[in-house]
Amino acid sequence: MTRFSMGLQTGSELLFDNVRKAMSIEQGEPERLRLPDAGTVVRKAQVGIVGAGPAGLMLSHLLHRDGIDSVIVEVRSRKYIEERNRAGMLEQGTVDLMIETGIGERLKRQGLVHHGIELRFKGRGHRIDLSGLTDGKTVTIYPQHEVVKDLVAARAAASGEIVFEAEDVIVHGYDGSAPVIRFRKHGEVQELACDFIAGCDGFHGICRQSFPAGVLTLYDRIYPFGWLGILAKAPPSSPELIYANHERGFALQSMRSPEISRLYLQCAPNEDINNWSDDRIWNELEARFATHDGWRLNQGPIIDRGITEMHSFVAEPMQFGRLFLAGDAAHIVPPTGAKGLNLAIADVRVLARGLSEFYRSGSQEWLDRYTEVCLRRVWKVQHFSWWMTSMLHRFEAHNAFDFRRQLAELEYVTSSRAPSQSLAENYVGLPME
Ligand code: FAD
Ligand code: PHB
Repeated sequence: MTRFSMGLQTGSELLFDNVRKAMSIEQGEPERLRLPDAGTVVRKAQVGIVGAGPAGLMLSHLLHRDGIDSVIVEVRSRKYIEERNRAGMLEQGTVDLMIETGIGERLKRQGLVHHGIELRFKGRGHRIDLSGLTDGKTVTIYPQHEVVKDLVAARAAASGEIVFEAEDVIVHGYDGSAPVIRFRKHGEVQELACDFIAGCDGFHGICRQSFPAGVLTLYDRIYPFGWLGILAKAPPSSPELIYANHERGFALQSMRSPEISRLYLQCAPNEDINNWSDDRIWNELEARFATHDGWRLNQGPIIDRGITEMHSFVAEPMQFGRLFLAGDAAHIVPPTGAKGLNLAIADVRVLARGLSEFYRSGSQEWLDRYTEVCLRRVWKVQHFSWWMTSMLHRFEAHNAFDFRRQLAELEYVTSSRAPSQSLAENYVGLPME
């Protein structure tokens, strides 16, 4: 899909426009303006977005609803992003946003609404009643690639442009008033001139890396384990998710549909997937989920498998000049709390609001506070994801003391209202500011 909602311009027309824009948007002279090279195709959008993951697509969708035009530049193909297997669990707020903004039809039909989760340890399951502890809130299983499909379809229906398979993407000019996303498409160099750039290009993207040296402070924790995840053609063994702490390591039962199970087990961080035969995977899952009352794990053909690293990371600040980072580009969490996608969506809600305020009233107040507002949620979510990870996994230097301490914590969390309520309100998603 390649749709052009804006006309093409020559370099000099654009330069002139940028000067005018800089004058009207900010008082004062624009910083150095660079002439595009001859032969470069130049066009404009109010907001240029790098990355068509959940963050970039949702931002573009929200901006469109507020009458702000954006173009997304993505390195991968549409097919690739619509099939990439990742998250599965949506917070109540993410679900509400999709429905309120008109992209929730398939979600309402196909999403699996969950009212609780199970924490399993010492061979016994303990239910956390998410809805009962949060005034009726729920979470919904709806795969990330389905969210992506719904968003891509909404952008297409609104004639929004996504440039797929862009190469050599770079961003510049965002420290002054003439931000540009430059890339190659079919061998031709193109420049997208915009008022603002949103760096929604994930953890390995280029936007965070393009911040000038010394601006960012990075906070980091790498866990000494990974997750081996499989999709199996087998009905989920239990209607709710099961988070299991076992001496052999963590295991998680999730699902994608009434016919497909999504299962994870803790493994070495640099594990070679070839060391895991189907039999070994099923035996390990059986052992970690085993209960005293003979609970059975449904098995079936494995249709997808992969290893995920476990990492906590925050970059501060999340903005520099007219470049704003959102989602995994700015922070990542280990998947134990099911938070990454939801946090990406929370960021772009704040960013969309700031940009809308700016175009509506000319006020930069919300944009200036973007980092501060986002990071308040980010650090709470970091804490929750770290806490769930620490309580449920076997650590490298794990000893009998640590294991018993974890079991005591799990017993406390599952038997006392205060800690189970704290888990529940974080799990369904903290309210937006
Ligand atoms: P991404 O999804 O990474 O999107 C970034 C996009 O930018 C990609 O399309 C990429 O191709 C593109 N890009 C990269 N570099 C460039 C470039 N140079 N130029 C242009 N485009 C570029 N989260 C949850 O909330 N719930 C869960 O249950 C959950 N489970 C998970 C399970 C696993 C196994 C994993 C790995 C993650 C899970 N997550 C979960 C996390 C979630 O998948 C991520 O947090 C989410 O994808 C972040 O979205 P994003 O848009 O910020 O980044
Ligand atoms: C998933 O379904 O992929 C999933 C669910 C919950 C998690 C992590 C992943 O905590």
